[in-house]
Amino acid sequence: MEDRIITGEETGDDASVELSLRPSFLNQYIGQNKVKENLSIFIQAAKMRNEPLDHVLLYGPPGLGKTTLAAIIANEMDVQFRSTSGPAIERAGDLAAILSSLEPGDVLFIDEIHRLPHSVEEVLYPAMEDFFLDIVIGTGPSARSVRIDLPPFTLVGATTRAGLLSAPLRDRFGVLSRLEFYEAKDLCAIIERTAEIFDTTITKEAAAEVARRARGTPRIANRLFKRIRDISQVKGEREISLPTTDTALHMLQVDDAGLDHIDHKLLKGIIEGFSGGPVGLDTIAATIGEESQTIEDVYEPYLLQVGFIQRTPRGRLVTEKAYAHFGLKVNDKE
Ligand code: ADE
Repeated sequence: MEDRIITGEETGDDASVELSLRPSFLNQYIGQNKVKENLSIFIQAAKMRNEPLDHVLLYGPPGLGKTTLAAIIANEMDVQFRSTSGPAIERAGDLAAILSSLEPGDVLFIDEIHRLPHSVEEVLYPAMEDFFLDIVIGTGPSARSVRIDLPPFTLVGATTRAGLLSAPLRDRFGVLSRLEFYEAKDLCAIIERTAEIFDTTITKEAAAEVARRARGTPRIANRLFKRIRDISQVKGEREISLPTTDTALHMLQVDDAGLDHIDHKLLKGIIEGFSGGPVGLDTIAATIGEESQTIEDVYEPYLLQVGFIQRTPRGRLVTEKAYAHFGLKVNDKE
């Protein structure tokens, strides 16, 4: 994937600061009201019954707070939070080691759960359903199966699309929650909260401008905020102003609608190469040199949401609205 300052992907830089920006409890978590309301009830009920929470699948585009919510679930349930990812668990034995080290009620978070190897996924089914593992030890005639009982636990899985999961795995989650892009007012509140954590002030108009251009994504809003704050600080401002925010976003190649150079490459690629489409995803991917899956999971969801792209049975179509954004008309062939 090409570098972009406003990617929804976790970059791993300044991890401790990123961590401190994350809310620890549901009442500090801004937005996603439906998801929060539901989780809050299921958590209360599980606590009243003194049972672990049912397994939870969180899905939606990157950067919307799936990992944060998983950690919040553990905090609210007052249990330990253990975190891993689908690609990190290569063998059934890796999963067995993690599961057998859990305390009763713990939350195990598996990010990118759609990337679990098939052999591991099969071991996970009985673990989720009845809290035991069937592990085959040895090979050939001496192979035998051992049963390991596990403490009851809550699996929180995260994926960009629920459809990427196999049906048997998806069916074993009791709670399925879809995270949506954030409204500008929620992003504004997140930016103001971030500013406070950094001991910085930002004017209302400047915060609203970042919120408007953060593609509905808190991770992008926070990352843009940090770079704008750098520029404001170097300028010697007492508070982050709207003109500085504008200049900074221009420097960061974030356009008026919050789109960056990769969004431009994608949209212009379809407009210029295929007269606006429809064109198949794999063809676009080959033309602009990105993976189909990355386009589908990372770049495209926001463009679909704001109506710059449409999915049709014959492929992706750039809309009139997107043409207008570039100052073009649909029948302008570049
Ligand atoms: N920081 C990042 N996402 C957040 C959210 N949803 N609520 C509060 N702070 C956040």
